[in-house]
Amino acid sequence: MFPLSIPLKRLTQEHRFLPFDCGDDDLNSFLFDNAIQYQNELLAVTYYLETKDDTVLFFSLSNDKITAIDSEKSFWRKIKNLFPYSKHRKDYPAVKIGRLGVNKKFQNNGSKLGTHILDYIKYWMVTENKTGCRFITVDAYRNAVPFYSKNGFIFMGKDEEKNYNTGKSDTVAMYFDLMNIKL
Ligand SMILES: CC(C)(COP(=O)(O)OP(=O)(O)OC[C@H]1O[C@@H](n2cnc3c(N)ncnc32)[C@H](O)[C@@H]1OP(=O)(O)O)[C@@H](O)C(=O)NCCC(=O)NCCS
Repeated sequence: MFPLSIPLKRLTQEHRFLPFDCGDDDLNSFLFDNAIQYQNELLAVTYYLETKDDTVLFFSLSNDKITAIDSEKSFWRKIKNLFPYSKHRKDYPAVKIGRLGVNKKFQNNGSKLGTHILDYIKYWMVTENKTGCRFITVDAYRNAVPFYSKNGFIFMGKDEEKNYNTGKSDTVAMYFDLMNIKL
C-alpha cells in the first residue's frame, strides 16, 4: 500500500512554475530553465507539487543502472551477492533521482516533505513501475548526504564514503535497494 497519497503532477509543456526557492541556485534554475528541455529530449521527467501560491517541491527521474564497469570491486561483489548466481550479470536496473528540492518555506517545519517524497518514490517504483527497477540511485549533494542516509540510502562503495568524509567531491553517489520495501 502507498505510504500516502500526494497530488503530484507531471510537468507539461504549458505549465508555468509558481515561485520556488530550495536554497540552491542550480536546482532552482534547473526547474525554471531546463526541466522542460530535459523532458522533451526524454532525458528526465519532472514531477512537482504546488499550492495555489507556491511550488512546494519537485524532483526529476531518469533511468539508470548500477554496473560492474563503473563500480569498485568490493562494492560490485556486495551488489552481486544480493542475487542468486543464476541472476549474476554485468548491470542491474535502477532509477536515478536527478534533482530533488523542497521549497525553503516548507523545509524544517515538521512536515518532513523530503522524507515523504522519497517514500513515495520507493513505493511507486515497486508497485507501479512499468519496467524492472531494483535500485534508486542519487548523486547526493554533500549537504544532503545526512538526509539520504536517514532515509536508508548508502554509499556506493568505500571510495564514495571516503570522498564524503574527506570533503573531496561536491556530490556523493548513494543508492537504495528497493527490496528493502515491505509491502
Ligand atoms: C535535502 C532536502 C530535499 C530535504 O528535504 P526536507 O523536507 O528538508 O527533509 P526532511 O524534513 O524530510 O528531513 C529528514 C531528516 O533529514 C535531515 N536533513 C534534511 N536536510 C538536511 C541537511 N541539509 N543536512 C543535515 N540533515 C538534513 C532532517 O533534519 C531530518 O532529520 P530528523 O529525521 O532527525 O529530524 C531539502 O532540504 C532541500 O531541498 N535542500 C536543498 C536542495 C538539496 O540539497 N537537494 C538535494 C539534492 S541531491
